[in-house]
Amino acid sequence: MSSATTDGTTTGRLRGKHALVTGAASGIGRAVATRFAAEGAHVVFADRDLPGADRAVAELPAGLAGTATAVQVDVTDEDSVAAAYARVLAGTGPLDVVVANAGVQLFGHDAPVADLDLDVWRRTIDVNLTGTFLTVKHAVRAMRGRTDGRRGGSIICTGSPTGLNGEGRDFTAYSSSKAGVHGLVRTVAAAYAADGVRVNTVVPGYTETPLVTAISGDAASRAAIVSRTPLGRAGTPADVEGIMVYLGGDEATFATGAIFRVDGGMTSL
Ligand SMILES: NC(=O)c1ccc[n+]([C@@H]2O[C@H](COP(=O)([O-])OP(=O)(O)OC[C@H]3O[C@@H](n4cnc5c(N)ncnc54)[C@H](O)[C@@H]3O)[C@@H](O)[C@H]2O)c1
Repeated sequence: MSSATTDGTTTGRLRGKHALVTGAASGIGRAVATRFAAEGAHVVFADRDLPGADRAVAELPAGLAGTATAVQVDVTDEDSVAAAYARVLAGTGPLDVVVANAGVQLFGHDAPVADLDLDVWRRTIDVNLTGTFLTVKHAVRAMRGRTDGRRGGSIICTGSPTGLNGEGRDFTAYSSSKAGVHGLVRTVAAAYAADGVRVNTVVPGYTETPLVTAISGDAASRAAIVSRTPLGRAGTPADVEGIMVYLGGDEATFATGAIFRVDGGMTSL
C-alpha cells in the first residue's frame, strides 16, 4: 500500500501537477490515480465506465476531496478522446502527466495464432494499441501546445511481460498489442524528446485485478503464473504505484523511451 497518512496525503511528490489516467475506474489505473491524488496532483479519472470512475473519485480518502474529477472516454474512439482532453484542458488546465493504461484481455477468446478469430484480434488491438495511440497522440498535442510557461510533460504507458517474451504464448492478440505499445513508446519518445515530452513504459507482472479473474479464480492457473514469478507472489495494484509516481514527478526528468519492469523478476531472471 502507499505511504498515505490517515487524511490520505503523502509526501507531495506530485504537488501542483495535473494528471490524467485512463482505465482509472478499476485495478491498476484506479490505484495509480488515487496515489497521484495522495501525492498532491489534481487527477482526472478517465474511463469508459463513468459510474466506476465516479465511484473511484467519491471513495477517495476524505482529505483528498476536491483533488480529482471523473471523465468518460472510450479510448478506441478519437472523437471521444479529443472531447475528453478538450474538457479537461478547459476545466482544470494543462496536463503534466498522462497515464495511458486502459486495456482489455479477452480470456477464453484470445488464443494461439492458428486458432485466433480476426474479431478477437481486432477488439484487442483496438483498445490496447489503437487506444494507447489515441491517448498518447492527444497527450503530445496538449503538452506541446501548453501556454502556461511550463514545457512538455510525462506520458506513461502500461505494457506487459507478454509483449517482451513468450509469457503470452496463448494470448496472441493481447501479447501483440502490448509489444506494439512498447514500440509506440520508443517512437514517440524519440520524436518528441526535443519538446520535453518524456514517454516511458511500465511493465507490471501478474497483478491481481478484475482483468485477470480467469487466472486468480483458478488455483492451478494462479499457482503456475506465481511459479514463473521469481519473487514468488502475485502483484497488487499498489506494487505499480511507486514507479508511476517516480515517472510522473521531477526526479525522472532524464528518463525517456525506457521500459520499467515491476514484474517480480518474471521477464529479467
Ligand atoms: N493485471 C495484470 O496482471 C496486468 C499485467 C500487465 C499489464 N496489465 C495492464 O494494466 C492495465 C490495467 O489493467 P488492470 O489489470 O488494472 O485491468 P482492469 O480490468 O481492472 O482495468 C481496466 C480498465 O480499463 C477500462 N477500459 C477498458 N476498455 C476501455 C476503453 N475502450 N476506453 C476507456 N477505458 C477502457 C475498463 O473499464 C477498466 O476500468 C491494462 O493495460 C493491462 O493490460 C495488467
